[in-house]
Amino acid sequence: MAKPRRTRDRQDYYYWKAKEKGYRSRAAFKLIQINKKFNLIKSGYKVLDLGASPGGWSQVATELGAEVVAIDINPMPPMDGVTIIRGDITKEETIKAVRDLKIEFDAVISDASPKLTGKWTIDHLLSIDLAKASFEFAKLFLRRGGNFLVKVFQGEEIESFYREVAPKFRFKKFHSPQASRKRSSEVYFIGKGFRKDDQR
Ligand SMILES: C[S@@+](CC[C@H](N)C(=O)[O-])C[C@H]1O[C@@H](n2cnc3c(N)ncnc32)[C@H](O)[C@@H]1O
Repeated sequence: MAKPRRTRDRQDYYYWKAKEKGYRSRAAFKLIQINKKFNLIKSGYKVLDLGASPGGWSQVATELGAEVVAIDINPMPPMDGVTIIRGDITKEETIKAVRDLKIEFDAVISDASPKLTGKWTIDHLLSIDLAKASFEFAKLFLRRGGNFLVKVFQGEEIESFYREVAPKFRFKKFHSPQASRKRSSEVYFIGKGFRKDDQR
């Protein structure tokens, strides 16, 4: 797990809590909090975790009793109950690798983040690209009624992203869990009840 750089961050409650509980990332607590509120992952679910490394979300999903397929452009250390695919979610070959598994997923979750440039607008647009790529996976591999969770950095394209994605779900909402840093621009789109084959 990456060590916080600034003193203020080193005091970060969730960083130390993740270390104490054996989670690979502080992000694990975001999924724990989101799932408590929205119940996206249940025991027996098949979950596709995009931008999964180092694996905090996959850990949480397996603890909830899910079987996980995890994808990341970077390596991810092995984990029981998790099939790991190293690949870029914006590439067709990664879609093919998932298609070859022949799994219909109950939930697609994505915490994928671009390499930050520090320029708000560029980071926002790169994050929208990853969120849209994640939505492609949801459209292809989510079962009817399935759930979708995806991170987006706030900015001017977020409304058009919402307009594109929201109609495909019965329940839709943006949410920011308590474990997200206060100064972070990230929010999570939550979609429940996937309308498969619905032309909207
Ligand atoms: C915030 S981290 C995810 C943390 C993870 N949820 C956890 O709990 O451990 C974001 C991840 O997105 C991955 N990522 C960024 N761009 C990607 C892409 N195009 N394809 C796949 N993964 C990508 C990064 O490599 C990074 O591991």
